[in-house]
Amino acid sequence: MSSVLVTGGAGYIGSHAVKALQANGTRAVVYDNLSAGHRAAARYASALVEGDIRDTPCLREAMREHHVDAVMHFAAWASVGDSVRDPSGYYNNNVLGALSVLDAMVAERIPHFVFSSTAAVFGNPVRTPIDETHPTAPINAYGETKLAIERALRHYETAYGIRSMALRYFNAAGADPDGELGEDHAPERHLIPRAIDAALGRDTFAIFGDDYDTPDGTCLRDYIHVTDLASAHVLALDALRAGAASARYNLGNGRPTSVKDVVGSVERVLGRKVRAAVAPRRQGDPAVLFASSARITHELGWTPAFEDIDVIVGTASRWRDAHPQGYGDRTAA
Ligand code: UFG
Repeated sequence: MSSVLVTGGAGYIGSHAVKALQANGTRAVVYDNLSAGHRAAARYASALVEGDIRDTPCLREAMREHHVDAVMHFAAWASVGDSVRDPSGYYNNNVLGALSVLDAMVAERIPHFVFSSTAAVFGNPVRTPIDETHPTAPINAYGETKLAIERALRHYETAYGIRSMALRYFNAAGADPDGELGEDHAPERHLIPRAIDAALGRDTFAIFGDDYDTPDGTCLRDYIHVTDLASAHVLALDALRAGAASARYNLGNGRPTSVKDVVGSVERVLGRKVRAAVAPRRQGDPAVLFASSARITHELGWTPAFEDIDVIVGTASRWRDAHPQGYGDRTAA
C-alpha cells in the first residue's frame, strides 16, 4: 500500500492533516526533525522518520522504504517577523529545504506534491477579497520563499512531471475539535492563543495598532480553522491522485475579522476579560487580508465546517486550557 510523506507532520497544521489523512484511509509517514514539531503530535502517523528536509538521501530512503507516492510539504519556518530579521535562515529552510524535497521526489519518481503556501505571497493587497488572480508581490522574506517554490513548481512539472497543488493559507487558527491536537509554538506570536493566554491570566497582551483605516481601527484578517485546512489537503491529494491538473488555491473563510473582534470572541467564549493594551503597529502588517476561496470550493468541493470565529476560538481555548504546557515536551532553555 502506498503512503504519503508528510514533512512537518509533527507541527501544528501538519499534525491535523495527518489525522485527516488517517481518517480518510490514507497512510501518512511523518518526516520531521522535531525542531518545532512534537512527537506526540504525530500520533496518527503510520511511522515517524526523524530527519531534516535538507538531508536529501535521508528523504529518499524514507520515500523508498514506505512506498511513498505523494508528498505533503509542511516543514518550514513560518514567522513573518523573524523572516525579516533572518532571511538567510528562511531561504535556507524554506527554499533549499523544499528544493531538497522536490529533488528527492525527482530521484524517486514521486509524481504528486501538496505545498503549504501562504497569503503572504500577495503582500499588501490591491483589492479584496483576494482571489487567485490577485498579483503576487510579497513584502517579506517569508512570503518570498513560498512564492519562489510556487514558481519552481511550474518548472519541476514541465521538466520532471511533478503535479502539484499550492494551498495559500490565510490565518490558520483553532485546534482539533476532539481536543487531541493543538497549537504549540515557542514563542507563541499568534493573535488567538495570545489573547486566550491573556484571558486566562497567563500573559500580557497588546493590540498592535488601532489606527488602521478599518471600521474599528484594528487589522482585519481571515481566520480559518486548522481542521478545515486539513480537509483541503486531503481533497487536493485525492484530486492529484485522480489526475487533476496542478493548481494554486486560496484558503480562508472570506470573513474579515478584526483584532478587536477576536478579543471580543475570546471574552465571550471564555467568559473572562482580556486585558489589552494598545501598542504601536507591528512592522509589515497589511491592514486588511481576506480570501475568496470560491475556486477551491468550485473545483474540489471544499467547504469549511468551522467558520464561526467563536467556534474557532472555542476549539483553541479548550486545547490551551487543557494543555498549559502545550505537548509538554519542551526542554528547559
Ligand atoms: N496581533 C496583535 N497582538 C498580538 C498578536 C497579533 O494585535 O499579540 C495582530 C497582528 O498585528 C495582526 C493580527 O493580530 O493584525 C493577526 O496576527 P498573527 O500574528 O496571528 O497572524 P499574521 O496575520 O501576522 O500571520 C498569518 C500567518 C503567517 C502568514 C500571514 C499572512 O501566521 O504565516 O498570516 O499574512 F504569512
